[in-house]
Amino acid sequence: MGQVLPAWTPAFAGATGSGASASCLDPCFRRGDGKRGKCFLPGPLLSQGRRGRKAPARGDGKWGKCLLPSPPRKRGSRAAGLTAMPSLLNYRPKILVMRLMDAPSRLWTVASVLQWTFQQFQKRQVDSPRLTAELLLAHVLGCKRIALYLEYERPLEPKELQAYRLLIQRRLRGEPTQYLVGTKEFYQRSFLVDARALIPRPETELLVDLALEKLPNTPKARIADVCTGSGCIALSLALERPEAEIWATDISKEALSLAQENHRLLGGPSNLHWREGNLLEPLLKAAPFSMVVSNPPYLSADEMQNLQREVRFEPSLALYGGKDGMQFLSQIIQQAPRFLGPGGWLLLEIAEGQGEKTTQQLAEAGYVDILLHKDWAGLCRIAQARRA
Ligand SMILES: C[S@@+](CC[C@H](N)C(=O)[O-])C[C@H]1O[C@@H](n2cnc3c(N)ncnc32)[C@H](O)[C@@H]1O
Repeated sequence: MGQVLPAWTPAFAGATGSGASASCLDPCFRRGDGKRGKCFLPGPLLSQGRRGRKAPARGDGKWGKCLLPSPPRKRGSRAAGLTAMPSLLNYRPKILVMRLMDAPSRLWTVASVLQWTFQQFQKRQVDSPRLTAELLLAHVLGCKRIALYLEYERPLEPKELQAYRLLIQRRLRGEPTQYLVGTKEFYQRSFLVDARALIPRPETELLVDLALEKLPNTPKARIADVCTGSGCIALSLALERPEAEIWATDISKEALSLAQENHRLLGGPSNLHWREGNLLEPLLKAAPFSMVVSNPPYLSADEMQNLQREVRFEPSLALYGGKDGMQFLSQIIQQAPRFLGPGGWLLLEIAEGQGEKTTQQLAEAGYVDILLHKDWAGLCRIAQARRA
């Protein structure tokens, strides 16, 4: 509190794409206690074909403060009065805005507005300042980022400037870029995202890679995605394995409504079914499954106290996993054997440092083939196990 220029960075601004982990049987992984242990990694993973689907643009532009220079104001306005107090102005967005409002009127082009915004973002330590400036402007203009460069000298209309200004203001307040533009790429498809659910993370694509690696595309394959959120895992699996049947659950009505919007947006595959409720409970009738996958809430109480500014905009129901973060992971590990057929797979996304507890609990619950997989940053983030 009281910090003039908070050091916050967006978690995933503009991060997209599916990668491939290539190392095998890597002997080292980082554990929460800083010691080393074993981590068995998969071989090279298949890269996926590009879908190139585009989600409709969103953005409600409800925030009211202005950041970019506006047309000249009458002398003696409130804004003009504030500019007379320079010692109060340092790094305070509201007042900075006022000061800029008094700048002489000028013609703003795509190039100049991007440069101006880049500098503001850079000054305020917004992650990827140029990319963020471009993503927000492309969203306002309803075009692809690349198109900005083809229209570099195009002047902006006042209403475009106003819409851009509002997005800049929201971004400077910490709102994630993905919520502002309303979409996020996951497994090479575009998903709608907003405050109803977690923004899909790139490391979760590894979970999808592993699930696809283990499951053939046969009508017999039945997959449960527990804690589905935006539906990114369930939809990716349903589209990549059209012969399989997928059931997805979430306890949040809001998250499920977003998942269903994504379902429609991505062509409404008929092999995907949504259920509201606690973990696997709503899926008693659909069992047995060949695989249960889940990216449950897994942040600890301490981690919830120290969230990045951007992450605070995401629903805490999607983040908090009890005091040590293991509450839902432990429940799923206990529940899943009743829902899996013999030899059925369990794949869980975990936090860095939860590998040891997770593998211990899996072993105690009688699973076999227990392995941890690293993400692209070299951290063990996926636990796999099989029902005996
Ligand atoms: C970490 S988010 C994962 C979202 C999505 N699967 C992803 O990978 O982006 C966790 C989700 O679990 C849901 N959730 C929390 N508690 C739950 C429970 N007891 N049963 C089912 N879902 C739950 C939250 O609403 C949230 O959508």
